[in-house]
Amino acid sequence: MSTDTAPLTDLRVPQEVVDLVFRDARTVNTFAEGEVTDEQVRAVWDVVRWGPTAMNSLPLRLLLVRSPEGRERLVAHMNEGNKAKTQRAPLSVVVAADLDFHEQLHRLAPHVPGARDNFAGVADVRARWSRDNAFLQAGYLIVGLRAAGLHVGPMTGFDAPGLDADLLAGSGWRSLMVLNVGTMPADADGTPASHPRQGRLDFEDVARTI
Ligand SMILES: Cc1cc2nc3c(=O)[nH]c(=O)nc-3n(C[C@H](O)[C@H](O)[C@H](O)COP(=O)(O)O)c2cc1C
Repeated sequence: MSTDTAPLTDLRVPQEVVDLVFRDARTVNTFAEGEVTDEQVRAVWDVVRWGPTAMNSLPLRLLLVRSPEGRERLVAHMNEGNKAKTQRAPLSVVVAADLDFHEQLHRLAPHVPGARDNFAGVADVRARWSRDNAFLQAGYLIVGLRAAGLHVGPMTGFDAPGLDADLLAGSGWRSLMVLNVGTMPADADGTPASHPRQGRLDFEDVARTI
């Protein structure tokens, strides 16, 4: 295990970009005052939507929660330790997977004839597929938000069935994660996280070559 953050060599993007989105980025739960606008999130979406998904299915859906009423409803479903963080975030994004993603496949995957109909009768396959691929897209989204200079606190500690029955009622959307999003407080001194950076597994821990 390592806390080493040696810079990449042979980069095709400036080192600062890698630092911004990975090496220096921390999970943040205390943000500066000030709104994160729909336009900021739209600009991030317009980039991260190009990240690959199986059959170009793009099952990720986003519920942006900014109003005091929306926030109260969201906080009610968060685990106790996540309530205050969510209460004070400028924007919270409910990241969801759309069980009915196949209804868009005529637009997204015209190269796969019959794709929509093949998924229509297999709800269990759609549930797994949408969850896998929306989680993948959630990763792209976190990196994209960071690239836009925003800070993110991802959370899965909430009552997902309760949230779905309330905020996502009447849709095929199923919540996966809540992202608190904002900018760094001016007095954060470069250390916005609540605890020291923990180590990461080394290449030898995670990879095998055959
Ligand atoms: C999918 C996911 C779920 C998480 N759930 C929670 C959570 O419910 N509550 C919380 O305080 N932090 C949560 N975290 C934050 C992680 O603990 C944190 O990202 C990790 O320890 C790395 O911290 P660092 O980015 O500061 O290095 C979650 C992170 C991810 C990516």
